[in-house]
Amino acid sequence: MKAAVLYEQKKSLVVDEIEIEDPKQGEVMVKMAAAGVCRSDLSFIEGLWPAPLPMVMGHEGAGLVDKIGPGVTLVQPGDHVILSFVPSCGTCRNCTRGKPYLCAAGPSSVMRDGTTRFKKGEQQLFHQTAVSAFSEHIVTHETAMVKIRDDMPLDKAALIGCGVMTGVGAVINTAKVEPGSCVAVFGCGGVGLNVIQGAALSGAAKIIAVDTLDRKLEMAKGFGATHLVNSSKEDAVGKVREISGGAGADYSFEVVGLPELVSQAFDATDPGGETIMVGMPPIGTSITVNSTLLFLGKTLKGAFYGFTRFRIDMPTLVDLYMGGKLKLDELITRSYPLEKINDAFAAMKKGEVARSIIKF
Ligand code: CU
Repeated sequence: MKAAVLYEQKKSLVVDEIEIEDPKQGEVMVKMAAAGVCRSDLSFIEGLWPAPLPMVMGHEGAGLVDKIGPGVTLVQPGDHVILSFVPSCGTCRNCTRGKPYLCAAGPSSVMRDGTTRFKKGEQQLFHQTAVSAFSEHIVTHETAMVKIRDDMPLDKAALIGCGVMTGVGAVINTAKVEPGSCVAVFGCGGVGLNVIQGAALSGAAKIIAVDTLDRKLEMAKGFGATHLVNSSKEDAVGKVREISGGAGADYSFEVVGLPELVSQAFDATDPGGETIMVGMPPIGTSITVNSTLLFLGKTLKGAFYGFTRFRIDMPTLVDLYMGGKLKLDELITRSYPLEKINDAFAAMKKGEVARSIIKF
């Protein structure tokens, strides 16, 4: 079967013929239907985050359960599932206290027994965060997926696995934006658009989209932005404060993963407001913020994976889409076959797309 493999960081992916083993205890084989191309894949490819190599890439996807291993009870063959790149074991400290996105089983590059299910001859290939969505078939633990309704198109469902969950979840689960709020969103890529639609769903009165590209700002409008700021032409912080009609947004979201942009988002937040980090920063970097304002109560928090409680949240996002309340069709700018995956990353780097998907 074919899969996109990262053999060396800072190099293109290789679409390679590899082997997959049957699922073992508690594991499930999924026949992939579609996978989303996400900026955080690029962090591994470009070496901004460490990765065990070689690794089968991809962490956003949906498909059909093909085979189940011994002891599996959560899904059955034929089930439609969305994969979660953090499993939820349901029993560890963080799962129990309602923070399953920090499950002790973690995003892992090996199965629970310490081995992998992907092989190329004698060589074992690692799993990307136990998902590896850019592969015709995958094996992962049953606690890293959730069954969804059969009438949900799987190519749209794939996007929920990371980008949509991360963006909408940051608004609804992490910030808990109240109706009438003023929200600023720094970065209008695939996840940023989902922060914008999350803010619209929450009833925010003002949604200020900030980006350096006009075509992304135009898209932002379609997802519910009420004000557009091109930060390559105007001072974004000053503009957000002006539009807020006060000292800044109630909630500012940074959705790129640039430490300097987090500082800017913090400056554009009202002293009583919250700045939320959604973008994945390069590992080991630090952020500078005004210590007095932090001391006085301005909040800075991370929103890893939209604080997902995926067994509840992902089927809910599916229902919102099926009910016409969540935009997913508009997110998919292009779809590619697996063979063209490097073109999909090139298009993302150029800012040409909201989201690309790989269709199997
Ligand atoms: Cu992602």
